[in-house]
Amino acid sequence: MRHDHLLTAKQLSRADIEAVLGRAREFADDPAAHADRHPGALLALCFFEPSTRTKMSFETAAKRLGGDVIDMGAVEDSSVKKGESLADTARVVEGYADGIVLRHPSQGAARMASEFVDVPLVNAGDGAGHHPSQTLLDLYTIDENAGLDDLTIGIMGDLKYGRTVHSLAHALTNFDVRQHFVSPESLRLPRSVRYDLHEAGANVREHEDLDAVLPELDVLYVTRIQRERFPDEEEYEKVAGQFRIDADTLAAASDDLAVMHPLPRIDEIDPEIDASSNATYFDQAHNGVPVRMALLDLLLGGDEA
Ligand code: NCD
Repeated sequence: MRHDHLLTAKQLSRADIEAVLGRAREFADDPAAHADRHPGALLALCFFEPSTRTKMSFETAAKRLGGDVIDMGAVEDSSVKKGESLADTARVVEGYADGIVLRHPSQGAARMASEFVDVPLVNAGDGAGHHPSQTLLDLYTIDENAGLDDLTIGIMGDLKYGRTVHSLAHALTNFDVRQHFVSPESLRLPRSVRYDLHEAGANVREHEDLDAVLPELDVLYVTRIQRERFPDEEEYEKVAGQFRIDADTLAAASDDLAVMHPLPRIDEIDPEIDASSNATYFDQAHNGVPVRMALLDLLLGGDEA
C-alpha cells in the first residue's frame, strides 16, 4: 500500500482493498503461523473512546505477527486528564512505537494527529467520521458471503452518525454495487457523504422502510443508533428501537441473505437470529484479526519483509 496513514476509506483504491483482502486470506488459514513477520514491532493503542473488538483485534493482530502493543489505557489515567493536547500525545507516542492506532470522539482527530507523526497511523474511529479498518473487515466478510461485484446491499440504522457506514459506503464505490440506505429521515446519510458518493458515481437509493427493498438484498448491514453522538437524549428516544430485525423480518428475505453488524448491538438484531445461517456478525468480528494482520503487515512494510 502506498499510504503512510490510513485515515479515511476514501483513500482506498480497489487495488489497495484487494491487496489487504488477499493477504488477509493468507493469514486467515493459520493466524498463529506468522510470528516471524514482524518480530519486535510495537503498536501503540491510543483509545480516547470505548472499544472491545477494534482494540483487542489490533492487539491480537500485532501479537500474531510477532509484535506487541503498548496501550495508553483509559483517558482518565493518562496525561490527557492533565490537559495534554492530542498533538503532543501523538508526538510522544510516535517515539515509542512503530505504528499508532487512534480512536477519538472528534471528527478529523486522526488526520490532525497524523500531521505530527512519521510512523503509520490508523484511524480506528474519529467521532462520526470514518472507521476504515472496520471497512476492510466488512469488505472481507461481504466478499466471503456474497462477493463484491454485482452486489445489492442494504445499509440500515444510524446513517448520520455511523462512521462504519460512511467508510463502507465510500469503499463500495470501487465495486459494482447497488447501495440501499434505510433509516429514519432524521438519521439519513450526511450531505457530505451523499455528495461524495454521487461524485464517485455510486448507485445509491435511500428509503425510510426496509420492506420494499429487503427481498432483493444479498447483504443487510445493520447498525446501532449512536446514542453517544446525539446532542439531545429526547432525539435519541424518538428513533431508538425503530429498526429491529427478527425472524419475522427475515421471512421476506432471500435465504442467502447475509446479515452483518459491526457490533456492539443493542436491540437491532433479535438474538433468535444468531443461530441462523443468515447471521454473519460474529464471523465478521473474528475476521478483524486476519484483516488487521494484513493491514499492519502492509503498513509496516510487509512487502520488504
Ligand atoms: C463501531 C464503532 O466504534 O464505530 N464499533 C466497532 O468498531 N466495531 C460501531 C458502533 O460502535 O456502533
